Amino acid sequence: MINRYRILKKIPEKEIRQQVKKIAQNIANEYQNQEPVLIGVLNGVFIFLSDLVREISIPLKIDFVRLASYGSKNVSSGKITLTKDIELSIKGKPVIIVEDIIDTGLTLSYLVRHVKGREPESVKICTLINKLERREKEIGIDYWGFEIKEGFVVGYGLDYNEKFRYLPYILSLEIKD
Ligand code: IMP
Repeated sequence: MINRYRILKKIPEKEIRQQVKKIAQNIANEYQNQEPVLIGVLNGVFIFLSDLVREISIPLKIDFVRLASYGSKNVSSGKITLTKDIELSIKGKPVIIVEDIIDTGLTLSYLVRHVKGREPESVKICTLINKLERREKEIGIDYWGFEIKEGFVVGYGLDYNEKFRYLPYILSLEIKD
């Protein structure tokens, strides 16, 4: 199948760097002497998390989870399973969940419930992109880089059918199948 794309918006590398730095400074200020555990949601988060942790000037720990959501095309159905779990012990620890993008919020609300089951001291949410258009679950987001209203977002780790992850910038696309 051939897809045609129209670029609605581009977020250049410089803007991404500025926002990543800002989030990192806020996290460093709020978690001094606490050694937070950052839990990255694979795969899309791999570039954002790598850049973020290198800008955070306090000690921290890193772990990953991976979730599968079965749904139609580009929308998650809410039927979510965990395919890679947290491996560090987070009981009594401050946790920050780090996402690439929050769309409907279904994946994250599942993950927050799962993480809270491990009895961390606190759970905060950090996302590079907050996509507001299709939100179904209200979730308090503590740190975010960009708010996007329309389009499908790719680049800087984010994919469309495994394409575009490698781009150093972010594109919001209109996809015509
Ligand atoms: P949610 O459960 O609808 O919030 O979906 C979250 C997941 O869907 C993200 O972690 C992404 O993997 C994927 N996703 C949702 N919107 C986009 C997008 O615009 N670009 C790339 N992936 C997306």
